[in-house]
Amino acid sequence: MKKGRIIEILNADCKYGIGKRNGLLFHLPKDMAFFRTQTSGHVVAMGENTLLSFPGSKPLKNRTNIVLSMDKTHNHQNVINVHTLPQFFRLIDKVLENEDVYIIGGASIYRQLLPYTNLVYLTKVHADGGAEVFYENLDEKDNFKLVHSEAPIMDGDIEIEFCTYENVSPLPLPMEDIEGKDVELTLFKGPFEAMKYGQKDIEMRLYDEKRRTLDVGDRLHFENRETGERLSRTILGLAPFDSFDTIYASFPKERLGYKKEEEAKPSDMETYYSKDRIAQYGPLAIFLD
Ligand SMILES: NC(=O)c1ccc[n+]([C@@H]2O[C@H](COP(=O)([O-])OP(=O)(O)OC[C@H]3O[C@@H](n4cnc5c(N)ncnc54)[C@H](OP(=O)(O)O)[C@@H]3O)[C@@H](O)[C@H]2O)c1
Repeated sequence: MKKGRIIEILNADCKYGIGKRNGLLFHLPKDMAFFRTQTSGHVVAMGENTLLSFPGSKPLKNRTNIVLSMDKTHNHQNVINVHTLPQFFRLIDKVLENEDVYIIGGASIYRQLLPYTNLVYLTKVHADGGAEVFYENLDEKDNFKLVHSEAPIMDGDIEIEFCTYENVSPLPLPMEDIEGKDVELTLFKGPFEAMKYGQKDIEMRLYDEKRRTLDVGDRLHFENRETGERLSRTILGLAPFDSFDTIYASFPKERLGYKKEEEAKPSDMETYYSKDRIAQYGPLAIFLD
């Protein structure tokens, strides 16, 4: 049973326009605050253009950012990268086992995910922003029902209206097999067992030459260094991070392989890698099924 929902969140003008020149149409502080409140602490998923449209092309703070880009060599820092729609679906499907996923744009991603979306937070902007990219008119879709709308308010000098649409017949995400190669790795007993019993689904390594050959879909075969026992997992997403500190601050320690009663600190990774090598390559978080 899935606990999470797919939620699209956006603002659109009177023609359902959402962007131009890879940027937003309006400066709307109240809508921005609503977006921040809704998505903070959650998983957000976006297309590469939307990531590149953010200040400094940096991911959103206090959120797990998933980015879909067509080019396999584009692995952006501090985000979980996937490169095909089937990979995107598979990763989102895993997240939905525990929590909601917010689809935050842009136009191409909203469109491709809409049939599977449960809820849409749509801020209607009562103006024409001269858009180049557009959202769909939900009032013309039989399966989308307006379930909530608030009285229009002024956001600066522009009138906006917060609306919520529900999809009464969302489709299940299509699941395709993802191609990948076989890769052998070893693990110490503690993390191996944490993975075996389902708590650990993030493996941390250095983003060195060897790890740069990894792809989403690769099958990792882990051997317990102490007992020789084996288990296999598939890569759902690859996330080069700026530091182990950021990884430890971003995910519950159990997902990294620690027990509840264990202290978890980034310097633990120095047991495996020298400070010099960590500084040279930076860490890679590997998200597993
Ligand atoms: N109003 C709002 O609330 C709101 C919110 C978010 C964004 N926006 C606006 O939306 C605009 C960006 O939208 P967009 O449609 O241009 O970009 P986008 O959806 O953010 O990103 C498109 C990117 O995703 C990749 N991609 C899409 N589908 C794919 C697939 N099936 N497989 C692999 N890769 C895939 C594309 O690769 P290729 O380019 O290689 O095809 C492209 O790199 C901007 O103007 C932004 O400001 C508005």
